[in-house]
Amino acid sequence: MAHTVPDIKHKNWSSQWLFIMAATGSAVGLGNIWKFPYITGENGGGAFVLLYLACILLLGVPVMMTEIMLGRKGGLSPINSMRKLVGIAKASPLWTTIGWSGLLAGVMILSFYSVIAGWALAYIPMMATGTFTGIDAEGSSELFGALIADPWRLILWHSIFMLMTMLVIARGMEKGLERAISILLPGLFLLLLALVGYAYVATDQFGRALSFLFNPDFDALLYTQNADGQTIFNLEGILSALGLAFFSLSLGMGSIMVYGAYLPKESSIGEATISIVIADTLVAILAGLAIFPIVFSYGLDIGAGPGLVFVTLPIAFGNMGGGVIFGTLFFVLLVFAAWTSAFSLLEPVVAWLVESKRFSRPNAVWLSGGIIWLVGLLNVLSFNVLESFHPLSFLGEFKLAQQNIFGILDYMTSNVMLPLGGLAMALFAAWVLPSAIVSKEFNLPEGCVTYRTWSFLIHYVTPIGVGLIFLKSVGLI
Ligand code: TRP
Repeated sequence: MAHTVPDIKHKNWSSQWLFIMAATGSAVGLGNIWKFPYITGENGGGAFVLLYLACILLLGVPVMMTEIMLGRKGGLSPINSMRKLVGIAKASPLWTTIGWSGLLAGVMILSFYSVIAGWALAYIPMMATGTFTGIDAEGSSELFGALIADPWRLILWHSIFMLMTMLVIARGMEKGLERAISILLPGLFLLLLALVGYAYVATDQFGRALSFLFNPDFDALLYTQNADGQTIFNLEGILSALGLAFFSLSLGMGSIMVYGAYLPKESSIGEATISIVIADTLVAILAGLAIFPIVFSYGLDIGAGPGLVFVTLPIAFGNMGGGVIFGTLFFVLLVFAAWTSAFSLLEPVVAWLVESKRFSRPNAVWLSGGIIWLVGLLNVLSFNVLESFHPLSFLGEFKLAQQNIFGILDYMTSNVMLPLGGLAMALFAAWVLPSAIVSKEFNLPEGCVTYRTWSFLIHYVTPIGVGLIFLKSVGLI
């Protein structure tokens, strides 16, 4: 028997503006402030940024429009929205896999996202009490090492972050999500601007940061040195640009779809998409402009990798005037950004439990949050006790064989589930859903330029672009 689509009507966002804020809050997160600067640093700057911007524009924009459109047409959690759309299009129920894989990806991502957000939480009191004052490189990496080596500390902060997220979602749309977002998002922008201002005033390296971000040096992107010091050609940077674009825009999982489900019918999807994408990109660039001048002015390693904001940056804060205050603010900023993203990782599961399993909203939150918290413990242990436990080592040559649990969850979501999810949404909207329905949902006539541009990108550019990059990244071509 085919599953029935629950007959539930969710509350809508109070306005299009609140949807834009919530979706921007979802997009702006660790991806922008933690990942973007360190991945840009590792890939040599400007050329990578250019590629990232191209991925955002050519792939991110049409996929985001698509995801919002599917959500609004469905009006339900990603699983049930897809069920409904499959019914409308008389398509194969296999397309509901988009919803299921998104639900799973949400659980997987939030389980490690919360652990990393927990690091940022742990850094707030450390910064505020001057732990880093006068510190050198060795001292800073010891402090970070001591944090991640201690499962109990990590569990504490991971639990606090999960609770913070669950409390907001349990309170529902208006009292929970909307209220939190309308405080946190403006707060986030103010903090970020203050930090950029600080980097401008307190260092003389702002110009160098600008040219690092905007002066493309393609050699730095395409060539790296191997272990023997030889220069080798390397496409990894291109793959990272796409993965980061999807991750940063929250695409391919259902976060944006479920937020789209609560969008009032008369709102313009195109306009909303453009605002969200501009805000998300701006935050990534501003985060670079807050971080790079400080890293440069202390001659620190810009290619330090994931430790850039947790090891490298605190060295500088520990030695600059005003470093205690601005260092603390930086980690508050990181927590705000991660928090508003976590809402959107939890919401799809919660909405599905409410619709299909008839849970009350708070019960749905406790159950799903509890499970995610438990999976999170495996991620906590991946940084210490289980650091070299490689559950997939039987895969031999394959990349996943040498990863611990955190590595597997990160790789599978960013490199496999999100690109495939986004690709499947694009294929469904382009080739399965009748174009009359699509253009109506967009409130755009089929002949107009915006619709035709979207249609061209989603029929051809997205499948080819995402498909090629995906096949390459899993080593199939
Ligand atoms: N976009 C967020 C960030 O940049 C993370 C995030 C929230 C996300 N929801 C998502 C990533 C859905 C992928 C899919 O940190």
